[in-house]
Amino acid sequence: MNKEKGGDNVTSSLSSQDLKWDSVGLELTDATIICHCRQVNWEKIKKFIKVGATDLPQLIQRSRAGTGCGSCREHLKKILSSI
Ligand code: FES
Repeated sequence: MNKEKGGDNVTSSLSSQDLKWDSVGLELTDATIICHCRQVNWEKIKKFIKVGATDLPQLIQRSRAGTGCGSCREHLKKILSSI
């Protein structure tokens, strides 16, 4: 398995307990849908970030989250800014 440098740090910083939606204060679970248009959940977002999608354009391109109505992009930005 080819891990990027710092990959473990990224993974550990993305635990469900650490991230909450600012607006509603709910904790994320793996099943939490981040992008409703593309049905991308938190588990998938973590996986894409772990393999190198660490900025918004990369995360959108790889996950397809944010390619519908675009309303989830602010959530994606918050997630990325918290890692
Ligand atoms: S909710 Fe993500 S693009 Fe619409």
